[in-house]
Amino acid sequence: MTEATLLKTPDGFLWGVATAAHQNEGDNTANQWALWEQRPGRVYAGQRSGRALGWWDLETAAADFDRAAELGLNSLRLSVEWSRIEPEQGVFDPSALAKYREMVGLLLARGLEPMVTLHHFTDPLWLTALGGWENPEVERYFVRFVERVVDALGDRVWLWCTINEPLVYAHEGFLSGGFPPAVKSLRRALRVLRRMVLAHGRAYRAIHRLQNNARVGLVHHYRVFRPANPDSPSDRAAAALLDQVANRSILEAIARGRLMPLLGLGQQVSYLGDTCDYIGMNYYTSVCVVSDARRPHTLFVRQFFDPAAERSDTTPLGEPYGAVDPHGLYLALKQTAAYGKPIYITENGLPDADDDLRPRFIATHLAEAWRAVQEGVDLRGYYHWTLVDNFEWAAGWSLKFGLYELDLETGRRIPRASAGIYRRIVEANGVPQALLDELSRPRQAKAPAAA
Ligand code: BGC
Repeated sequence: MTEATLLKTPDGFLWGVATAAHQNEGDNTANQWALWEQRPGRVYAGQRSGRALGWWDLETAAADFDRAAELGLNSLRLSVEWSRIEPEQGVFDPSALAKYREMVGLLLARGLEPMVTLHHFTDPLWLTALGGWENPEVERYFVRFVERVVDALGDRVWLWCTINEPLVYAHEGFLSGGFPPAVKSLRRALRVLRRMVLAHGRAYRAIHRLQNNARVGLVHHYRVFRPANPDSPSDRAAAALLDQVANRSILEAIARGRLMPLLGLGQQVSYLGDTCDYIGMNYYTSVCVVSDARRPHTLFVRQFFDPAAERSDTTPLGEPYGAVDPHGLYLALKQTAAYGKPIYITENGLPDADDDLRPRFIATHLAEAWRAVQEGVDLRGYYHWTLVDNFEWAAGWSLKFGLYELDLETGRRIPRASAGIYRRIVEANGVPQALLDELSRPRQAKAPAAA
């Protein structure tokens, strides 16, 4: 570390952006989201993923990969779409696998190490018809699909994420109603979550059977729960309870093979123990937690965003997507490090159409990550969500997470100031102190856009 640069990263540190198939590829028609988008009232303003960013056309994907390379990145996280690879149960499409092979080749040709997610929220329609992740057979189906992918890409890809955010998939689909099938049943949510975690364990073992050098992890959406009043024992207990339910239940399962009471009566599952070569952490926001005796249905806890924190753009439901809390990332890293595994920050970002928060967001989050690294956290990479504005699930095209703005009419990509900021950080292989100082000045003028 030079004096002027925070987070001089270790050798092999991966600087990237994160993306997902359905949000970027376009023309995905055989998964449950494609169907969902056609149902009135499910996606903001009736919007659809449609052509999305057009990545199924490899020339268009390559042009975005060029953008990533121009930012100086050395990695890119993308997912493969199960419904393209296995459009019918047990029927695999070699041309889809060949196309992903080519896509991954385009990344490698640009010096971008591919990190490949095998499941990012979408399911083939044939699986949905069989009950999706509630069907006990899903573990077997998922492993069979994973084996095909590893067989096709394993000589080009070593960094795998089995499943993206099982908790978000289960919560949004089976509790809060944001994702298909939008049912509200705690029992079913837990059943799905349990299946996903178990399927991860089996997929982990299958990948290692096929590929010696594979590094495999699960990507967890890490929410940091802060007691609203740190001096209040009941608020502290409420925050600890939510941390247990939302974070530790998943990390305990994949690191120690222990299904916590909610997921399986404290059951130890032999094939699940130690199934993470790394932990993938998606961090967006923290929440304040207050204990509230009037709320039995939410575990006697109320959550809200810190009123003193800066807020990101507002979702179609009229709430901010998150509160900006860089220190929360430090806390999440420290807690996760206790499991003794390397960590990748597999997503971090915010919706910020006018880009007035994002430059500082990136720099301050990385500065907090640096503090954690200084204290011994084994952080191996950082992936910003995302490169270009993309299809944001139930929020449609309304939330803008891109370092590049997308002109929806023309498909043109326009760099936001934060693209230039991220490039400066990547070039310095850390956060220059001068940049932090520049960005932390209140109401500073916008930084110049990237070329
Ligand atoms: C998901 C992404 C999503 C992002 C922003 C993450 O939870 O993995 O698919 O676009 O958050 O909401």
